Amino acid sequence: MKIFITKRIPQKGIDLLKAAGHEIAIHDSPTPLSPAELIQSGQQCDYVLNGGMQKFDADFFRSCPNLKALSLMSVGYDNVDIRAATQYGIPVSNTPGVLSGATADVAFLLMLAVSRKAFFNHKQILQGKWKGFDPTAHLGIELNNKTLGIYGLGRIGFEFARKARAAYNMEIIYYNRRRNLEAEQVLGARYVNFDDLLTRSDVLSIHAALTAETANRFNQDTFKRMKNSAILINTARGGLVKEDDLARALCVGELWGAGLDVTNPEPMAADDPLLNLENVCILPHIGSATVETRDNMALMAASNLLAAIKGERMPQTINPEVYP
Ligand code: DGY
Repeated sequence: MKIFITKRIPQKGIDLLKAAGHEIAIHDSPTPLSPAELIQSGQQCDYVLNGGMQKFDADFFRSCPNLKALSLMSVGYDNVDIRAATQYGIPVSNTPGVLSGATADVAFLLMLAVSRKAFFNHKQILQGKWKGFDPTAHLGIELNNKTLGIYGLGRIGFEFARKARAAYNMEIIYYNRRRNLEAEQVLGARYVNFDDLLTRSDVLSIHAALTAETANRFNQDTFKRMKNSAILINTARGGLVKEDDLARALCVGELWGAGLDVTNPEPMAADDPLLNLENVCILPHIGSATVETRDNMALMAASNLLAAIKGERMPQTINPEVYP
């Protein structure tokens, strides 16, 4: 069976596929494939493993009649037209769970870094602007006993809330499509409506998927309803936040700070005004970027494909309705 991998993935995943005797072609380049190139590669293989941020639209599925399954090495699947995949009979899988701890670590890192203006203070040293100890300068805010609001409390949100509660005894409130009873029992988390989430959170962390419903959910209106002392964290997808509105809200003091691991677009332009704001910390989408987590994601993505090749259901199928 011929497998096409859209970007180099950790060797463990490749070795697992090779050990099963399959022929593998890898697009081994930092430049993403154009839609036409992706279709051309998809037409020459039976299975695709997506290691990058490629978009799989209806045109792709329509144009690749021999394709039997698509395995994503990511938990997010906003880059795939799942409805079209299902329509053309293609099962699509993702890699949930294995990256929750690493991604929650980055949310925690950003929360703490923003609260102490860490990135800005570091830049001050690099620019020769550190003039010595000053009792009234470089002041951050503390996190102890503050309220952490989680927008989208799934596995990653749960992990982040658990860490924040253990480290700072933070009170956890959350807004979700469904109640998360485990979080309520284990963390004492309280389900609130969206407006309460905005008005009560000292730190508001976004962990929801990007969908038509959540796109630009955090915008001028929502920032106006948040506390002036609040910190916004986003480790989910850049498209949930309207960045121009965020920059304005930070500049006029409607929000205290923001920590972003994801932006819209990615990569962010080096001269983006958000990068120069004092209470903003931005990272280049590194939530799952540890050796251990990326190995586990590659192994999970490869295992999903091996199941599909054997004619079995992929264990992490996003569109199980595709199976008879
Ligand atoms: C994910 O798994 O969705 C991460 O954001 C990497 O794409």
